[in-house]
Amino acid sequence: MAEEAILGFLQNNDEIAHSGYFAAEHNLDHEEVKNVIKSLQAFRYIEAKVLKREFFNLTDEGKKYAAEGSPEFHFFSAVPEEGTISMDDLQRILDPFVFDVGSKQAPKKKWVAMGQQVSRTVQHVEDKVKEMLLQIQQGLELDQESLKSLKYRKLIILTEKWSGYSEVKKGPNYAPERRSLATDLTRENLQNWQELDFKEYNVNAKGQPVDSGHLHPLLKVRKQFKDIFCQMGFEEMPTNNFVESSFWNFDALFQPQQHPARDSHDTFFLKAPSTTRELPEDYVARVKQVHESGGFGSRGYNCEWKREEANKNLLRTHTTAVSSRMLYELAKGPFTPKKYYSIDRVFRNEAVDKTHLAEFHQIEGVVCDRGLTLGDLIGVLQEFFSRLGMSELRFKPAYNPYTEPSMEIFSYHAGLEKWVEIGNSGMFRPEMLRPMGLPEDVRVIAWGLSLERPTMILYECDNIRELFGHKVDLKKVKENPLCRIGIESI
Ligand code: PHE
Repeated sequence: MAEEAILGFLQNNDEIAHSGYFAAEHNLDHEEVKNVIKSLQAFRYIEAKVLKREFFNLTDEGKKYAAEGSPEFHFFSAVPEEGTISMDDLQRILDPFVFDVGSKQAPKKKWVAMGQQVSRTVQHVEDKVKEMLLQIQQGLELDQESLKSLKYRKLIILTEKWSGYSEVKKGPNYAPERRSLATDLTRENLQNWQELDFKEYNVNAKGQPVDSGHLHPLLKVRKQFKDIFCQMGFEEMPTNNFVESSFWNFDALFQPQQHPARDSHDTFFLKAPSTTRELPEDYVARVKQVHESGGFGSRGYNCEWKREEANKNLLRTHTTAVSSRMLYELAKGPFTPKKYYSIDRVFRNEAVDKTHLAEFHQIEGVVCDRGLTLGDLIGVLQEFFSRLGMSELRFKPAYNPYTEPSMEIFSYHAGLEKWVEIGNSGMFRPEMLRPMGLPEDVRVIAWGLSLERPTMILYECDNIRELFGHKVDLKKVKENPLCRIGIESI
């Protein structure tokens, strides 16, 4: 509608002087006219110039000045060409309003010098104010500066404002009807090229985004943890068994069989196969012994240790199950110091909420050597966490069945302005290490933390379910940036 009207009108007329009036005359919606103008302009069917104008009327005072001249002009005229005149005399001969306004405006314009006596500083003046007001009366356009001064003196008042209107003329591609452009280089189009208009190439258009795989934030953060462990000389432990026996997950770690964590409320036990097929019998016997009646300086738990309990299969509840297997393997040969790490999945039968899942990842570090002390543990933790950008650490005594002493690790979080718990650690008990067959002076220090927590902080995610599980936000996975943990302090 609007397009036909505009192109049709320009066929017989030089211009559309005002798109607003044009729309009104042709019963068109000006918004639509505006859009059509934009589009026709892009294809250079037309040329459009934005009309920006304000219209004013004279106020009563303005009208008076336009008819009679401005007060400052009358004031100036009353001052003799030569010599002076007193203010009193001026006041007597001039109309009070003219005296009042003129005595302010004339000196401001530097037409007169004021004092008790008034004299001219120039011989001739032009009554610009009157001229400008007459121009406005004739409908002429004035510059912004002049309009501002007249508005300020309340001599004119705004009556109409044009914005969003334009003046339209034919453009270099003008045609009474829009031609449809050929867009594709088909065989037919190429054969008829002389009759066709081809759409210009837009070489600035962006291409389709290339679809590709994306690393999940947990994988990206895991990679950085791996790098830190590797830089510190740690070897990765094999973590490829989600299913573990209670023996390696709990008993080998000197976790009593009555411990609440071994309850099905906290642990997922397997229905099939519900029990493990084999365990190293002589080692099992030593574990049974230390649980029931102690040894290596320990009193043990003084409770019957049941093999059936140890045989039960479960989904490992922590990666320390992997560490216990590794240490047992290590104890078989002549002792060599080792640094091990693992980052993999663990399972806990917990209530799921914004920060807890029944399935998550643990990061674990283990160092074994002769004569290690708590000081070594603190030193290694300082080194490890400072590579993550956390150099201010605090330790709080804690309890784990397999470590003594045990410490929770806290770091000062500058953003949250408080100390937050970042991990758990300790020195493995002799009740755990000695039955494995490790030499008496070998000490093992270890620590663990979750992978999800630092990832959530780095990727500003406050709901773990967006990160992991069936509600994972794939769009976020695709678009998330590469966040670097603070390893610049290395
Ligand atoms: N296994 C502990 C946990 O699940 C972490 C830990 C690892 C503690 C090693 C001490 C030593 O929280």
